Amino acid sequence: MTDPKRIVLSSDHAAIDLRQAIARHIAERGWTAVDIGPTTTESTHYPKHGEAAARMVASGDCALGIILCGTGQGIMMAANKVPGIRCGVCSEAFSARMIRQHNDANMLSIGARVVGEGLALDIVDAFLDAEFEGGRHATRVDMITALEG
Ligand code: RB5
Repeated sequence: MTDPKRIVLSSDHAAIDLRQAIARHIAERGWTAVDIGPTTTESTHYPKHGEAAARMVASGDCALGIILCGTGQGIMMAANKVPGIRCGVCSEAFSARMIRQHNDANMLSIGARVVGEGLALDIVDAFLDAEFEGGRHATRVDMITALEG
């Protein structure tokens, strides 16, 4: 069974420092941060990092994932191509809470060139502290899953 506190983190070169700050923050909060890199700022391609993290969530290795690139957009698009992944980009805490409560998001994407570290940690906390509400929202999430064919 998947450890509900096990979270994979990944990014491209644009978000190394922020990703590592988030990994430290969530570890301090008692979550298990599985940081799969990369560790250098050498230019890389965000789709492969989004895919790698998404596959760890989709397989059940990790319960949730947090991914980052410059805007958060490209790596989110890649992650959402993996069946079973529901990932949203958030630049404020309200949306981060709602994508868990209403959309049962299992991944969060953040733009390291969009938000500063303090706001990013608030966004992460809102995402991790929220729970899916089920009910009518489950029907809608099932409809999203059905689109995977
Ligand atoms: C890299 O320059 C940048 O394109 C990437 O980090 C991200 O913003 C793409 O969506």
